[in-house]
Amino acid sequence: MSLSPNQQLLPLTARVNDHHHLTIGGCAVPELVQTFGSPLYILDEVTVRTACQQYRAALREFYPGEHLVLYASKAWSCLALCALVASEGLGIDVVSGGELYTALQAGVPPHTIYLHGNNKSAQEIREAITAGCPLVLDNWQDIKISETIAREQQVRPRVMVRVTPGIDCHTHAYIRTGQRDSKFGFDLEELPQVFAHLQASPLQCVGLHAHNGSQIFSLAHPQDLPQILLKYYQLARTEFGLDFTELNVGGGLGIRYTEQDDPPTIADWVKAVTTGVISACAQLNLPLPKLLCEPGRSIVGPACVTAYTVGSQKVIPGVRTYIAVDGGMSDNPRPITYQAQYRAVVANRMNAPLSQRVTIAGKHCESGDVLIQDIHLPELEAGDILVILATGAYNYSMASNYNRLPRLAAVLVNNGTAELILQRETYADLLRQDRLPPRLRI
Ligand code: LLP
Repeated sequence: MSLSPNQQLLPLTARVNDHHHLTIGGCAVPELVQTFGSPLYILDEVTVRTACQQYRAALREFYPGEHLVLYASKAWSCLALCALVASEGLGIDVVSGGELYTALQAGVPPHTIYLHGNNKSAQEIREAITAGCPLVLDNWQDIKISETIAREQQVRPRVMVRVTPGIDCHTHAYIRTGQRDSKFGFDLEELPQVFAHLQASPLQCVGLHAHNGSQIFSLAHPQDLPQILLKYYQLARTEFGLDFTELNVGGGLGIRYTEQDDPPTIADWVKAVTTGVISACAQLNLPLPKLLCEPGRSIVGPACVTAYTVGSQKVIPGVRTYIAVDGGMSDNPRPITYQAQYRAVVANRMNAPLSQRVTIAGKHCESGDVLIQDIHLPELEAGDILVILATGAYNYSMASNYNRLPRLAAVLVNNGTAELILQRETYADLLRQDRLPPRLRI
């Protein structure tokens, strides 16, 4: 069994070549930067595929029932990633018309694309139903709109009901979703009313969904969740006669961003979930449901690094040394948003001793635009290639054009070949949406 990608700081194929350069997928990082420009997202195909395969293999090993892994594309949505994970047999979780459009355009089979969202528009719901995608209903408005469209189109869309399981996970407050005070899903107390309503609905409700939160290391939460959900799942079947057959336990498995992070393996996470499902089903005398899960971060996070070029330095004697790179909070908003920690290496001098403690700053006009506070690195000079690790999840997908910085290019590397999967934005792209009213022309 290969290493669990979410426990590694570097992508699985990372090596150091004879020139002491970092290589990923058999490609030397300094050369990639020369060819494709800087900064650059470098995505390792082997790491993404391995993570997908480990989720599927663990489900086959630990779960005798039907199952499907969905990639939570909010972590990084683009055509290449959707196609890549679909080729590994995963479906896709989408949370907007834009993510849905991307998955459909990538050729992902519609019946494996699940539309989530706590405030779906009628148009988004119509797009999903028209394409034949299942929906995860978050609230009464979702139910109402979906029923209207189902009647209009005379179809019976497959839906699941999202619930707030009331589990409080220890992760950053902004990415905690399971606790009762959350904007997502139906409160458990409301479920009998929802089930009663769905008895006479054009929607075909097949089960329940919940998501605990993100970047979670504990295995207790994934194991507890099925117990709570299956109690209500059984209620729906026995008291309300609903034909429930599916259970979706969400995503949330954490990854290693720094040496201090110690997440469980993908296999251990799957084992905890399936143990929870199997034991609750035995207790409640239920047949095993079709089990769905929705990992995002643990599929794509460890597979990508961001290569930057070092620029200016500011030494404040006795205080701090700032090293500035050519990107920052626009390509990785996680440090400024969640105080997220990252590690970095110098790709063109992998053997150099770690001789100084520095702070890596971005180039944005914002004091908080710091990518890494206090890290031990070798001596650095302008032109060095600094690589920040584990940037695959919620970096590109949360990127902005703050200060009108063009968004980065991304390459997919494998076996010594690099292919462009996102073209670098140009200045012209930055003006694509701009309109200058003629009266303002100078
Ligand atoms: N399913 C649902 C319903 C979700 O809300 C999420 C994440 C996932 C699955 C995937 O969770 P994962 O396996 O990636 O932990 N921007 C934040 C993370 C927000 C997560 C939102 N929901 C960050 O950068 O940490």
